[in-house]
Amino acid sequence: MSTSIAVAGKGGTGKTTIAAMLVRALVESGKTPVLALDADPDSNLGTLLGIEEAT
Ligand SMILES: Nc1ncnc2c1ncn2[C@@H]1O[C@H](COP(=O)(O)OP(=O)(O)OP(=O)(O)O)[C@@H](O)[C@H]1O
Ligand SMILES: [Mg+2]
Repeated sequence: MSTSIAVAGKGGTGKTTIAAMLVRALVESGKTPVLALDADPDSNLGTLLGIEEAT
């Protein structure tokens, strides 16, 4: 069974920070696989997760 978690709110209030921490906590507790989507056109969730951009 899958679970969906959405993080929404005002700009600059820590949505992406919370999302990255959630992803990390889920992975570290073995709740995998985790599909993380950043719907912000100016996305930076990948950066917070330490993922390097493909060049
Ligand atoms: N709990 C917190 N305490 C202090 N600073 C925080 C906290 N959570 C996030 N920040 C800082 O606030 C800033 C904005 O955080 P973040 O990018 O996660 O917000 P956001 O809601 O995703 O912003 P945006 O709407 O621009 O996408 C960052 O510099 C982040 O390090
Ligand atoms: Mg954000």
